[in-house]
Amino acid sequence: MVWGFTLMALIMITHCGAGSTEKVLDASEKAGKVGFEILNKGGSALDAVVGATIVLEDDERLNAGTGSRLRLSGKIQMDASLMDSKRDCGCVAALEGVKNPIKVAREVMKTPHLFIAGEGANEFARSKGFEYYDPKTDRTVRAWEKVRKRLREKDLPSWAEKWEDYDVRDTVGAVALDSRGWFATSNSTGGTTFMLDGRVGDTPVIGAGLYAAEKGAVSATGIGEEIVRVVLSKWVYDRMVDGRHPQDACDASLELFEKDMPTGVIAVSKDGYGVSCNTKMAWWAREG
Ligand code: GLY
Repeated sequence: MVWGFTLMALIMITHCGAGSTEKVLDASEKAGKVGFEILNKGGSALDAVVGATIVLEDDERLNAGTGSRLRLSGKIQMDASLMDSKRDCGCVAALEGVKNPIKVAREVMKTPHLFIAGEGANEFARSKGFEYYDPKTDRTVRAWEKVRKRLREKDLPSWAEKWEDYDVRDTVGAVALDSRGWFATSNSTGGTTFMLDGRVGDTPVIGAGLYAAEKGAVSATGIGEEIVRVVLSKWVYDRMVDGRHPQDACDASLELFEKDMPTGVIAVSKDGYGVSCNTKMAWWAREG
């Protein structure tokens, strides 16, 4: 395609994950403003979503970077991903001991690969100079102890109640449109509540947790296994390609899920942006 240089309206959207409440609205705003400022100074959509995601990862109230959820084993293994209008991608999964997984995803983008996982991702991060960092917090350790106790006591609520009980905070994410008309999307997560080591959800899976190409960008949040099954982000992208407004495409995508399956999606195209979630979700958006 030919990349035009007509100056476009800027769009920046951030979210703190399906299930996040107004208590963390300030985090989505702070991150969004960082991203928007990058756009405003002529920066790329990719730089904007990375800048915003770093802010979200550094907020220990959110389930990404510092504050990531522990797996049943007690380990923290994080997933992060990036994609832009040129379909360049960088994804990491089950990454350990790093402060900002999104920065490692950005390094992956510079390689011939698009996805590096597990021990290879850890080694790759160290080879790129990322020092060891423990993303654990007192709050996430307390949450892990509670989960283990309920498992031991076989005190498991039904599926939907389970998520409600554990104060779900899912993936963080961002999408942006820059002045050159390029789009980008990013995601970062500590995963979901009950997880075995090595489990990978939707967050770093192209088409499921995220998608971007010449017509727009999408980021999804919710229960990874369910989002992968319906390839949610590509579904929303394809509706936008068909001419639907991003808000309409996001709203329609929630029909793919049971009402009690916490799911959210944000999207941007040249027609504007959309934000939909079937539960609470802290998010922030600016057009300018
Ligand atoms: N959406 C995050 C996960 O399921 O891992």
